[in-house]
Amino acid sequence: MSDNLKRAAAERAAELVTDGMRLGLGTGSTAAHFVAAIGERVRGGLKVVGVPTSEATRDQALREGIPLATLDEVPELDLTVDGADELDDDLRLVKGGGGALLREKIVASASARMVVIADGSKRVAKLGKFPLPIEVVPFGLTATERAIGKLLESLSMTGELRLRRAADGAPYVTDGGHFILDAHLGRIDKPSVLASTLNNIPGVVEHGLFLGLATAAILATGEGLVELGQ
Ligand code: A5P
Repeated sequence: MSDNLKRAAAERAAELVTDGMRLGLGTGSTAAHFVAAIGERVRGGLKVVGVPTSEATRDQALREGIPLATLDEVPELDLTVDGADELDDDLRLVKGGGGALLREKIVASASARMVVIADGSKRVAKLGKFPLPIEVVPFGLTATERAIGKLLESLSMTGELRLRRAADGAPYVTDGGHFILDAHLGRIDKPSVLASTLNNIPGVVEHGLFLGLATAAILATGEGLVELGQ
C-alpha cells in the first residue's frame, strides 16, 4: 500500500480525536502516520495525553511533542488507534508483526474504543495466513515451543513455529525482554479456542490474536476509505 493511503486512513482516524482524550498510540508504519497527525494537531493546540504501545512509538511521540503518560498514571483510555496485520469482518485481528503485541494488547484492553487503521488488503475472510506471533519468555523456550506444538496438534492444526530473529541473526527481543515464535498456520478456524488455550501454556506471555477489542476499522483502498464497525 502506498504511504499516501496509509496516511489517509491515519488522518481519518485523527479526526475522531477531541480535546481531553486519553489516547492509546499504536505501533507500526500506519500508526506512525496517526502519531504524526496527532503531533501536528497538538502543536496547533489540541490537548490530549498519549500512552505509547512501544519504545519506538514513545520516541516518535516525544519528538512530535505529544504529552505522554503511563498506563499506571492513566489506566483508562478513551481511544486507541493502531494498525493490524490481518483483520476479518468481525473485527478480529492478528497483530504483532512489528513485535509490539503485548503492550498493544494491554493498551487496547484499557481503551473504551479501538480503531484499526490498515491497508485494505489486510482484510481477510479467515485469519491465519499471516503468521501468528506468540510472545514467550526466553526461559524454557524449547519446552514452551513443544507445548504449543502439542496444543496445535490437539486442535488439529498444522504449522511451523519459527523463532523470530533480528537482522544480526540473534533472537528478536521484544520491548518486554521476551522472544517471539511466529506460528505459520495458514488458517485459524476457531480463533477464540486457540486464543484461550494458548494463554494457558506456561511460558506464553501473550499472542497476536486480538478478539473483541477493535470497535471499528478504517481501511485504505485504491478506491478510498472503507469503514467497518463504529
Ligand atoms: C506491531 O506489533 C503490529 O501489531 C503492527 O500494528 C502491525 O504489524 C501493522 O503494522 P503496519 O502498519 O506497519 O503494517
